[in-house]
Amino acid sequence: MTVFELKQEFVKVFGGTAEDVRVFTAPGRVNLIGDHTDYNGGYVLPIAISMKTFIACRTTNDGFIRMRATDIDDCVDVDIKHLNDYRDLKWGNYQVGVAYELERRGYEIVGCQMLYHDELPHGAGLSSSAAIEVATALLLATLSNEKRGIKDDINMVEMALCGQGSESNYCGVNCGIMDQFASAMGKKNNAIFLDCEDLSFTYVPINISGYKIVISNTNKKNELANIKYNERKSECDAGFEFLKGAGASSLGKVTPEQFEKLKILMTNDVIRKRTEHVVYECDRVKRSVTALKGGGIFLFGRLMSQSHNSLRDLYEVSSTELDILVEEALKTEGCIGSRMTGGGFGGCTVSIVKEENVEEFIKTVGNNYRERIGCEATFYISDITDGACEIV
Ligand code: GLA
Repeated sequence: MTVFELKQEFVKVFGGTAEDVRVFTAPGRVNLIGDHTDYNGGYVLPIAISMKTFIACRTTNDGFIRMRATDIDDCVDVDIKHLNDYRDLKWGNYQVGVAYELERRGYEIVGCQMLYHDELPHGAGLSSSAAIEVATALLLATLSNEKRGIKDDINMVEMALCGQGSESNYCGVNCGIMDQFASAMGKKNNAIFLDCEDLSFTYVPINISGYKIVISNTNKKNELANIKYNERKSECDAGFEFLKGAGASSLGKVTPEQFEKLKILMTNDVIRKRTEHVVYECDRVKRSVTALKGGGIFLFGRLMSQSHNSLRDLYEVSSTELDILVEEALKTEGCIGSRMTGGGFGGCTVSIVKEENVEEFIKTVGNNYRERIGCEATFYISDITDGACEIV
């Protein structure tokens, strides 16, 4: 749907004319490497992708945020004086949570009409919820600043934090900061090398000319993810207790050398495996950044595959479908690295594939996946894009 068409849809739903309708957007993300490290104060390397969430909106003065979506048959009208009362919505609680977080940070929430349009598949691990949160945060903060006559640029890191705050403080999902940060701070043709402990970051140019980033969707929703996510988080917290002797500020900052010296203290095998993943995964992120900066794309590909194996065997968050997609990808000519990306238990893989082999990759991996799993995989070839913005 084009922006023009979205505005026409908005007028059909809310009336009036398209003249005063504005459009905000935020992208989904794919993490190139560094999974289950963000909530351990470690490193990640995500990119913002071409698939996005769009919100058409218009300011009103009736004290309500009125939300509709092009693909969901639900209407949510939120009284801005009672933002705390909408935690149990089937759809819309992420957005209200964002409004709630903004208000806590001193923004004045302004009534408006909003029509959501999503290009991102839901539950596919491409951060459709983070995109919704970040686009909503930018929109509401913009309206708030305009109402108060504040001309400063919106702080996009703060918008990412509002998105994360909505999930953890309002919706009860204890996620890390990676997804919202990537959606808010993405930069065209760059990955974000982010230290999730203090949010310091640098952009890493992704010069992989001749290669494409191919996202393969298992089309299995990551349903177990929430339960297992919290379980993994506490296992990591427990593991860090044994590594405190290293003097690191968080598990993500423990080096492989420190880990090897102290791991003997961990008699619980599960805890040892979880922490081993985090420590070595953070190391792989740092080595990937060095490799990518020096044009070492093949080394990066190998690190991606090691990362997948670690998520499968040590962290145990992969699934048969993800493993088969990775296995089939790596058998295909021109694929130099492949791994599950995001929370796991379903969702997507990311692969780096030589441009001339992409068509064959999609055909072969798709056929073999169908044969082995009995359902279709979906493939997306993504550019690396900028983060959230208003489309003007
Ligand atoms: C989900 C969470 C992120 C991150 C990843 C795993 O996508 O929302 O914060 O923890 O899983 O890397």
